[in-house]
Amino acid sequence: MKFGDAEDRSFQGCIHVIKIEELMSRTEILAPTLDLASLRAQFPSLTQTVNGHPAVFFDGPGGTQVPQRVIDAMTNYLRLDNANAGGNYATSRRTDAMIADARAAMADFFHCDPNEIVFGQNMTSLTFAFSRAIGRELKPGDEIVVTRLDHDANVSPWLAMAEDRGLTVRWAEIHDADCTLDLEDLASKINSNTKLVAVGYASNAVGTINPVKKIVQLAHKAGALAYIDAVHYTPHGLIDVADLDCDFLVCSSYKFFGPHMGVLFGKREHLQRLRPYKVRPLTEAIPFRWEWGTLNHECIAGITACVEYIADIGRPAHGSSRRVAIEAAYEAIHQQERALLDRAIAGMRQISGLKIYGITDPARFDERCSTLAIRIEGHTPAELATKLSERGFFTWDGNYYAINLTEHLGVERSGGFLRIGLIHYNTAEEVDRLVTALREIVAAGAD
Ligand SMILES: Cc1ncc(COP(=O)(O)O)c(C=O)c1O
Repeated sequence: MKFGDAEDRSFQGCIHVIKIEELMSRTEILAPTLDLASLRAQFPSLTQTVNGHPAVFFDGPGGTQVPQRVIDAMTNYLRLDNANAGGNYATSRRTDAMIADARAAMADFFHCDPNEIVFGQNMTSLTFAFSRAIGRELKPGDEIVVTRLDHDANVSPWLAMAEDRGLTVRWAEIHDADCTLDLEDLASKINSNTKLVAVGYASNAVGTINPVKKIVQLAHKAGALAYIDAVHYTPHGLIDVADLDCDFLVCSSYKFFGPHMGVLFGKREHLQRLRPYKVRPLTEAIPFRWEWGTLNHECIAGITACVEYIADIGRPAHGSSRRVAIEAAYEAIHQQERALLDRAIAGMRQISGLKIYGITDPARFDERCSTLAIRIEGHTPAELATKLSERGFFTWDGNYYAINLTEHLGVERSGGFLRIGLIHYNTAEEVDRLVTALREIVAAGAD
């Protein structure tokens, strides 16, 4: 009997008697499939047109669209609950409760305790702030490792820290042919002086998913901290900081259907031990000592709603535990994105002069997510993005701040890549339209 079968419906009413481990193994057996029409109907922006063409949002890596419930949560907060936190009156108490709810939602999302969740302006600001506190403990001769594949937000803060503290910086290189991290090289750059390894979960340019758990183990073996940039990974894959055992992991909710905010997981021991630069009246309790000034309450209100949007994708078959629902949701999201990726790569391979950067062998698609970086001979990425935009496609061109990668691959001076970000709310028909449009653009020749 499979979970969700007719005989199995009784389980849904008494889900509390089933062991979590058993439920988790069941998610592998029967991930819910996406009801794409009803999911898309939740996103008001998806119904727009451009020059008479239905708008196609392939710009998810720059920021995903938001469902109505996120918009409602944010506006309702401003309409009815708007107040500063910590006061002895109704709206302030509701604000405190709302922030606690959002922390609990992100704890389910990351699989950690709510007091290990830190809210901030965005990933970049959080990383600069944490790099200052981490740097306070380091001294000349200490080393850090950054990678050639990463977004600059997980590089420059560490380079600045290294400059301030006199640290040695080691760069982990990539395999140019498939834009994957060279793990042997990375391992060789870690030694007993290494104090921090900063690595991305997935590349926002070429879509490579890094073996983060393995990298965390390498860092820990040397006694170093592992700082994970999960910004690009979050709309595509499940995050489990308990399983990864990373010290820090940071993401931005605007990349997974929420508001423009940053959220950081920090292991409790580090949040307690490290010394933040902070104002005196700010409490020493975690996680509050890491949250500077008044937070962006209306955005935090939207965070619970975006986590609930994801959880709801997994809920129909899996009862009420939000974490279990999130796990199931990502199975379904993965299946949908994998189908889109297969289709896009198969279609693009038929276009002459088109080069896909990153992994293109379908047998290895588990090592990448559905973000594609391409170039087409004779056309600049900016020209392609502009021509596609006239047909209703939203894509990015350039380096998307993965500048160490575009420089290394020698494409920075000629416009970087055209990036096509496939998100679960995209459709097979949209992918087919894109392939047709690219073929037409190529056939028409350069300007
Ligand atoms: C992989 C990656 N890391 C970090 C960032 C920076 O995030 P934020 O805009 O929240 O500072 C981005 C933004 O695009 C990103 O894609």
